[in-house]
Amino acid sequence: MCGIIGYVGYRRAAAVGMNCLRRLEYRGYDSCGAAVITNGSITVKKGIGKIDELNAALHLDALPGHTGIFHTRWATHGGVTVENAHPHCDEEEQFSIVHNGIIENYVQLKERLIAQGHIFSSSTDTEVIVHLIAQYYTGNLREAVLRALHDIEGSYALGVIAVNHPTTLIAARHESPLIVGVGDHEFFIASDIPALGSETKKIIIMENKEVVELTPESAEFFSLDGKKITKNHQVVEWDAQSAEKGGFDHFMLKEIFEQPRAVEDAIANRIEDSCITLREELPGLDISSIKRIIIVACGTSWHAGLIAEFMLEELARIPTEVEYASEFRYRNPIIDRGTLVLAISQSGETADTLAALREAKKRGANVLGIVNVIGSSIARESDFVLFTHAGPEIGVASTKAFTSQLAVLYLLTVYLGEVKKVLPIDQIRNRIRDIRALPLQMQRVLHLNADIQEIAKKYVKKTNALYLGRGINYPIALEGALKLKEVSYIHAEGYPAAEMKHGPIALIDEHMPVFVVATQDDQTYKKVMSNIEEVKARHGEVIAIATTGDEEIGKKADVVIRVPKNSYILSPLLSIIPLQLLSYHVAVLRGCDVDRPRNLAKAVCVE
Ligand code: M6R
Repeated sequence: MCGIIGYVGYRRAAAVGMNCLRRLEYRGYDSCGAAVITNGSITVKKGIGKIDELNAALHLDALPGHTGIFHTRWATHGGVTVENAHPHCDEEEQFSIVHNGIIENYVQLKERLIAQGHIFSSSTDTEVIVHLIAQYYTGNLREAVLRALHDIEGSYALGVIAVNHPTTLIAARHESPLIVGVGDHEFFIASDIPALGSETKKIIIMENKEVVELTPESAEFFSLDGKKITKNHQVVEWDAQSAEKGGFDHFMLKEIFEQPRAVEDAIANRIEDSCITLREELPGLDISSIKRIIIVACGTSWHAGLIAEFMLEELARIPTEVEYASEFRYRNPIIDRGTLVLAISQSGETADTLAALREAKKRGANVLGIVNVIGSSIARESDFVLFTHAGPEIGVASTKAFTSQLAVLYLLTVYLGEVKKVLPIDQIRNRIRDIRALPLQMQRVLHLNADIQEIAKKYVKKTNALYLGRGINYPIALEGALKLKEVSYIHAEGYPAAEMKHGPIALIDEHMPVFVVATQDDQTYKKVMSNIEEVKARHGEVIAIATTGDEEIGKKADVVIRVPKNSYILSPLLSIIPLQLLSYHVAVLRGCDVDRPRNLAKAVCVE
């Protein structure tokens, strides 16, 4: 994991680079650093801590020089120390590198380099690369980088600068994301597109095993065997404003509030009259041959997959299984051409999901990516992609990405049902009406924010919480628990409500808050009411997410948060919002860094 930035041009590299680096902090934030070329030497400043703290102490953005590389780290190899923070240099300080990825054969390479007299100053895997470059350098920086890359095994997105080449930045990519930004007499490298903010909209996406040599006036691309390749830029429409907090205290809160808009954008241009119009986005997908769907995803995206399983089986009548992407390869999954694999990912860079996608393709499945980040690896490697169009999600806790994934999965389901002729036209009309009603209903739930902030005060000192739901609301219990634990560090467990009596009921006493998703439906409501009774009988405290107008539940639950009624299948998009808000407020009241929770990163690019 980690975020990297590089700059070569005529402006002060550190001012530009550090500004862009802030937008990559979601990729890791245990330490950061900068290296620039000034007056015939490389200046490196780095340390432990988040970018703003470190910048205030070390003034990284004030470094002089027009060529520089910048890094924000999420430790994989080597603890969180100043020595392990990037950039790294060779012992002569002639070369400097920033790297995102993992060098799998670094131990052997390090032993070899040490035997040859190289002196290492960190315990990272990355440092071997810069020593290899130093060893192979005979006057041509690109050649030295290419030779070093031939020695290493693993994944990398990297940027290299050298004292002897003060106006050159070399970058390379394999299995870790990297883009080149094309400016006016200047170039950038970055781990993702939004990092460049409003610097440029002209982007070149680097593919695996590609190297680029950048100067203020030129960008030359090469394959790993040194052959020149031609690449053209594309213009991305990315609203830099949406990567700012826009008056909210945190990105998480802003993104929770953006959900009605995100769902609107996810469904916009995909519904015409009373039809779902996904045909153009899925050219060549042979729907009649789909006999089975397997969903692979991680974390919140996996929860979206669990809900999609309900949707697909209920409305499109397609047998569906949901797999943790990280586990998928460790069985011997039965896949054939009748299997459609859905890979769900906000970032499009989650290493486990990417690996599952590749495994599925290797075994002959068609893969359809449900992805937010345009140009990401999962988007590019999938056979088909439906973008969720949620806009940049910066907060580490996934919120608007989740609901926009659900909106797209719902449209996909209705579309499949329509094409497979299992959904009659009047049902399709009703389903479309239901999703069109959602954004306004979500807005209404958001009006409860102040009430939920008040409710949150009661739970700030709790150490445990249980989340219960049944049927389609069971994944919402899981997601509610994940939100609470990741931002507030309170231990929380999501459970199918009926399973509680098979074990977790032993945990219930007057200190245990039990959040129950108890919205009214024909499927599970009555049973969930019985589960609430079971909790109350053991003096547990019940906080219910209920349907507007449900008076009955007020007699049973201690706290009731009411959401508008939509169909059973779409109800999760409403019931998750109070749970997101509650987690946010509890975390803020506990003084947690909600946008950058400890030990986490937004895009988990390691397996
Ligand atoms: O980018 P992805 O959707 O592939 O990310 C998957 C998970 O890492 C992510 O959902 C994670 O669980 C979030 N922190 C949850 O809020």
